[in-house]
Amino acid sequence: MNRGILVSGIRPTGELHLGNYYGAMKNILELQEKYNSYFFISDIHSLTTHPKPDDLTRNVLEIAKDYLAAGLDPNKSTFYVQSSIAEEICELHTYLSMVMPLGDLLRCPTFKEKAKKQPDNVNYGLVGYPVLMAADILIHKGKFVPVGEDQLVHLEIARTIVRRFNQLYGDIFPEPRPIVENAVRIPSLSGKGKMSKSDNADSYISMKDDNETIQRKVKKAYSDPTRIYKHQAGNPSKEGCNVYHLHTYFTEKETLEKIQLQCSNATIGCVQCKSILSDSINSIVGPFREKRKKLSDSDVYDVLEHGKMKAKESSQKVISEVRKAIGL
Ligand code: ADP
Ligand code: NA
Repeated sequence: MNRGILVSGIRPTGELHLGNYYGAMKNILELQEKYNSYFFISDIHSLTTHPKPDDLTRNVLEIAKDYLAAGLDPNKSTFYVQSSIAEEICELHTYLSMVMPLGDLLRCPTFKEKAKKQPDNVNYGLVGYPVLMAADILIHKGKFVPVGEDQLVHLEIARTIVRRFNQLYGDIFPEPRPIVENAVRIPSLSGKGKMSKSDNADSYISMKDDNETIQRKVKKAYSDPTRIYKHQAGNPSKEGCNVYHLHTYFTEKETLEKIQLQCSNATIGCVQCKSILSDSINSIVGPFREKRKKLSDSDVYDVLEHGKMKAKESSQKVISEVRKAIGL
C-alpha cells in the first residue's frame, strides 16, 4: 500500500527515553509501511540554538543509530541528514521566503514562545523556521506530514506558501496535509506529568539503561500514595496508581489483569508489582539496546550516505522544475 509522499523531521536531541520511543519512534514503523517516506535528521534547524559543533555531529550519529535500532528501515524509506541536501533545501527556502508574509511569521505562536524563552537570541532563522520547514517538505513534494498539535500552525504556514507560490508560478506543489500523531503520553516515574529528559535522570527510563538501572529506577517510582501497608488493597487504575498506569503501556494484557486483581485484594505488594513492571520495560528496552550496540558508526554513515543519494535525486528534480517555473 502506498498513500503518497510523506516527510518527517527528527530532531537530534541527544539521549532518548521510553516516552520518545512510544510517542515518536514507534509511529515511524507504521508510517514507513504506508507511505513513500522521507525521514530526515533536522540538523540545520537545530542551529537556531547554537549547539556546540562536536555535540551536533555526535547527536546526529546517535539519533540515527537510535532510529535504526528502533526499526526504521532504510530500504522502505529514505533516511538522510537535512544538511546532506542543504543546497537544494536552502535554495528552495529562499524562493519560498519571497512569497511568505513576514507578519504571519512574527505572529506565529511558536515563534513568540521561543523569543520569550531566549530573548538574547531572537535570530532571523528562528523567525523563518516555518519557511525552512516548508522547504523540507516541498523539496520532495511531500503530501503528508506527521505533526504534533503544536506543529499544526507551521503546517498551515506551509499550506499558505504553497497556495501563494502556485498562484504565481503554476501548479507546482501539493498542499501538504497533517497526520496528527497518536497522543500517547507516557507518564514520568515521579508521577509528575509526562516522562521527560528535562526532569531528573531517575524519573525517566533512558533507552540506553541496562536492566539493573531499570530495576533501580522503577523501584523508586511513585505509586499509589494511599496504599501504605502491604496488606491494604490498592487502587489499580490509571488515575489511582502511577505504577499501574505505566503497566498499561508496557505489560501484556493477561499479566495486567492479574496484577489488577491481586492489587485489589492485596495479594501482591508494590515491591513485587514494580518488579514485574521493570521486567516488562526491560523486555522492550533490552532488544533495542542489543540491536543498537551492534550498529557501528561506519554502518550508520553508510546508511545515511545511501539516503543522501536518494534524497538528492528527488530534491534535484524538484529544484529544476521550480527554477524553470519562476524563470531562473
Ligand atoms: P523531552 O520532553 O524529553 O525533551 P522532546 O520534547 O524532545 O522530549 O520530544 C521528542 C518527541 O518525543 C516528540 O515527538 C514528543 O511528542 C515525544 N515525547 C516526548 N515525551 C513523551 C512522553 N512522555 N510520552 C510520549 N511521547 C513523548
Ligand atoms: Na516528527
